[in-house]
Amino acid sequence: MTLQNKNILLVIGGGIAAYKCLDLIRRLRERGAGVRVIMTAAAGEFVTPLSVSALTGEPAFSDLFNLTDEARIGHIELARAADLVIVAPATADLMAKVANGLAGDLATTALLATTAPVLIAPAMNVRMWEAVTTQRNLAQLGQDGKILVGPNSGDMACGEFGPGRMSEPMEIIAAAEDILAPKETPLAGHKVLVTAGPTHEPVDPVRYLANRSSGKQGYAIASACAALGAETVLVSGPTNLGDPKGLKTVRVETAVEMLAACETELPADIAICAAAVADWRVDGLANQKIKKKNGGVPGLKLIENPDICKTISHHAKRPALVVGFAAETENLIDYAKAKRAKKGCDWIIANDVSPETGIMGGDNNSVYVITPDSEETWPSMAKSAVAGQLAQKIAEHFKGMQ
Ligand code: C5P
Repeated sequence: MTLQNKNILLVIGGGIAAYKCLDLIRRLRERGAGVRVIMTAAAGEFVTPLSVSALTGEPAFSDLFNLTDEARIGHIELARAADLVIVAPATADLMAKVANGLAGDLATTALLATTAPVLIAPAMNVRMWEAVTTQRNLAQLGQDGKILVGPNSGDMACGEFGPGRMSEPMEIIAAAEDILAPKETPLAGHKVLVTAGPTHEPVDPVRYLANRSSGKQGYAIASACAALGAETVLVSGPTNLGDPKGLKTVRVETAVEMLAACETELPADIAICAAAVADWRVDGLANQKIKKKNGGVPGLKLIENPDICKTISHHAKRPALVVGFAAETENLIDYAKAKRAKKGCDWIIANDVSPETGIMGGDNNSVYVITPDSEETWPSMAKSAVAGQLAQKIAEHFKGMQ
């Protein structure tokens, strides 16, 4: 029932898998969805506008400069009316254009203009799929919030074998239903504050002290909390990551700035301190670049930074739940338990950041979750999955308190 009365805009790209789109349209219509189709010029080499329009009950749109179509329903309206845009088959060319914001035809113009979720079903030769350029475009599309379905592995029309086959219509339907299904928002009405990334502590105008944190885990946690309906504020040190969608991001450089930004955001119901805050900053910051002297090294005097997690845990506006992180390279659980007590936070998420684990900067994490009355070992999983599970656990905790 999820697709009932939903408006789907299907962008058909120019690949042999385009023939599967006829079946896709039929199955979308069977489920009560209205389907409009934009065909790229190349798509017309694989399926005909006549077959498409026979199945959709609407003309197939293809030309940005076709005045009859444009007067009847403008290209912006095509984009605006959609609850979901599906790109199938998403060719390497179409993915490259969308990843770079090109808008030279009706398909790419609508894709640039739409604010609806965009589901991409790639289909191409395995070598084209594995090409560095395609993978780079794919990463960009993911960062821009586009959702991927497939590709599957198997025999290809070109005689090769490997990933690059477009997902089957029913797999695309399942992905579309997943996107459009009403979302549970158990954290609605709660404010979550998340710290993430490293801090940079200046030495002089050009140098700083920092650590290797990528910010990925903290960003994923903020996104997961926002996805469950929380009003979410991410206070981030310098990272290479873009601002996540659906929440407020505050960028800071130093630990002192991070603490100030966090205090500005209090009161909050939940604080999750995932930032790898530098423990020290340089006392007596040099106004000019420190010059090398023959045979000498500058003696930097370090002073302690504020402990943000500890400060929040003892704050007059203390959140009901404070979650800290313990990144250790040995005695993980013992150190983490001691840290929980020392900081005064409620839960602590411990992870082993020894270089051989690949956790620092990587996409996976394996964590221990320590609460006042439980100790859980979570299997290694994507940082986004750790984030999702943590957000769910927080939601259950608050449900139990009501
Ligand atoms: O003391 P340590 O850095 O190992 O503690 C890690 C936990 O404390 C993390 O949750 C981190 O975000 C937080 N922390 C902090 N401010 C600091 C140092 C650590 O919030 N200055």
